[in-house]
Amino acid sequence: MKIIRVNDYTEMSIKAAEFMIEKIRRSPNINLGLATGGTPVGLYEHLVKDHKKNNTSYRNVTTFNLDEYIGLSGEDPNSYRYFMDQHLFNHIDIQKSNTCVPLGNAKNPQQYCVDYEKLLTVHGGIDIQILGIGSNGHIGFNEPGTSFLSETHIVELAASTREANARFFNSLNEVPTHAITMGIASIMRSKEILLLISGESKRDALAQLLQGEVNENFPASILRTHPCVTIIADMAAIGKIA
Ligand code: F6R
Repeated sequence: MKIIRVNDYTEMSIKAAEFMIEKIRRSPNINLGLATGGTPVGLYEHLVKDHKKNNTSYRNVTTFNLDEYIGLSGEDPNSYRYFMDQHLFNHIDIQKSNTCVPLGNAKNPQQYCVDYEKLLTVHGGIDIQILGIGSNGHIGFNEPGTSFLSETHIVELAASTREANARFFNSLNEVPTHAITMGIASIMRSKEILLLISGESKRDALAQLLQGEVNENFPASILRTHPCVTIIADMAAIGKIA
């Protein structure tokens, strides 16, 4: 794993955007794996700015999001589809039909998981996957204990994850209890991974990722076995490890 150390969230977002823009310009029909949450918001902001200023085109780009809450439709402001539209897709020239976010209100969620995994394969897999990390080491919504062999599946969210995400909802009660997520094996099939880590609340997670064992109790630890991972981490997250 290659680590790029930056001062703060802003610098992390700019570095991540430069990294992604270079890839997109080099391979205009690239398949991107995208994440939601607070971490990539600044990155998306910079991708939008660059699109407007430099015309970087997403016309032939295809995107796959990691996860979605079960029970929320794409029009729900708390859905990840809505998040992606608001933060990125509505502001670039991507074709909406090329943006794949798991359906939170699929009629048959189990079958939908199988179909989503197939969709990834049919498109030739993800070229570069953007990841954030949960303070308990989750990636996507793969909570501690998830099999490293898992593919797209339905999960019950850990209490800590629901609490961490309650800031986007009116109350903790409104945070869905289940989600659909790409599995660890699905994520590990990406040709390349860009992991963004910012803030003191992620300091222990980063330390464990770098120094702990590769173990299903800390899902992100599997990234140590991936051949092409870049981490961009800010000083608040790095703390004394540096
Ligand atoms: C989001 C996702 C999650 C987040 C993680 C960190 O699509 O898959 O794994 O990356 O929960 O969330 P933030 O960035 O809000 O700290």
